[in-house]
Amino acid sequence: MALILKNIVKKFNSQTVVQDLSLKIEDGEFFSLLGPSGCGKTTLLRMISGFETPDSGQILLDGQDLTPIPSNERPFRMVFQSYALFPHLTVGENLAFGLKIQKTPKEEISERVENALNLINMLDYKNRFPETLSGGQCQRVAVARAFINEPRVLLLDEPLSALDKKMRDHMQTELRAIQRKLNITFIFVTHDQDEAMTMSDRIAVMERGYLKQVSSPHEMYSSPANAFTASFLGDMNVFVHSGQKVFIRPERTLVSLSPMASDLVSYSGEVINKLFKGVFWDVYVRLSTGGVVKCLVDSKNEDMMEDLTIGKEVQVGYSQVYAHVFETE
Ligand SMILES: Nc1ncnc2c1ncn2[C@@H]1O[C@H](COP(=O)(O)OP(=O)(O)O)[C@@H](O)[C@H]1O
Ligand SMILES: [Mg+2]
Repeated sequence: MALILKNIVKKFNSQTVVQDLSLKIEDGEFFSLLGPSGCGKTTLLRMISGFETPDSGQILLDGQDLTPIPSNERPFRMVFQSYALFPHLTVGENLAFGLKIQKTPKEEISERVENALNLINMLDYKNRFPETLSGGQCQRVAVARAFINEPRVLLLDEPLSALDKKMRDHMQTELRAIQRKLNITFIFVTHDQDEAMTMSDRIAVMERGYLKQVSSPHEMYSSPANAFTASFLGDMNVFVHSGQKVFIRPERTLVSLSPMASDLVSYSGEVINKLFKGVFWDVYVRLSTGGVVKCLVDSKNEDMMEDLTIGKEVQVGYSQVYAHVFETE
């Protein structure tokens, strides 16, 4: 039971926008497609939904090839950034709309609408019109309108990107909770790495049509497979050691006023900035060999932070254990 993409290629005119991409998405997964704007995320989602056709390759659901199956007969529903609720219908009527068209019996409709409203914590909003709701509430209704049809897979194309930061953070938790309760597959497109990290069981990182890595957020953060995912997901310092680029996370980058232990690789540098972030200070150091790195210092470490004044000569170092080095691509 899974959705399998097999060697998918998609071209627009002469431009190849999805490059021989293969993936397996398990039932019930919260799966994110992550990558910079223009890397082919929406195109991939549209091929899964059936709005676009691959030039070659196959999309299989439970072993069945979906190629000949038109979009409206696939057990998928889409949610977009612009929620596009019907403004002249109440929340309840918006949710009932698709079921009515399918001639679902009245009693079943009202039961399913109640259940859906309950799931998105909006039972009290049934008779409200969309214009009286917040952006986050509209997006919850749009999600409910998609899952009320009981699709196998919900396809979400940057559904939170129109919301302000606070609402977006809240909706990340909310959407994840809805997905857990429904226990259906969500394929979630985003260009926001924090969003993908917070919400997903697994993340697929894309760059210029290529799949760069597929793994859990934790694995992708601690064991990036290539330079692209290393720098795209989370903060990364880059050192040059023996002519090679070495990637080290800020929380693995040590800063000290005295010489470093001999088993560490160390550099001298100068503090150029320090920013108080609450739990940590971000301390920026310009290396004498060139380049700027960021170190985290626990804000409990007050004596040290007093000594780490701007302009101060310091040592910066790391353990090889936490070094990521990649073959050049
Ligand atoms: N219908 C289309 N016709 C021509 N080019 C397109 C079309 N849709 C997308 N593209 C191009 O394909 C590439 C990938 O686009 P898209 O899938 O929308 O990326 P993303 O969603 O990751 O931002 C872009 O270069 C975009 O300009
Ligand atoms: Mg897109």
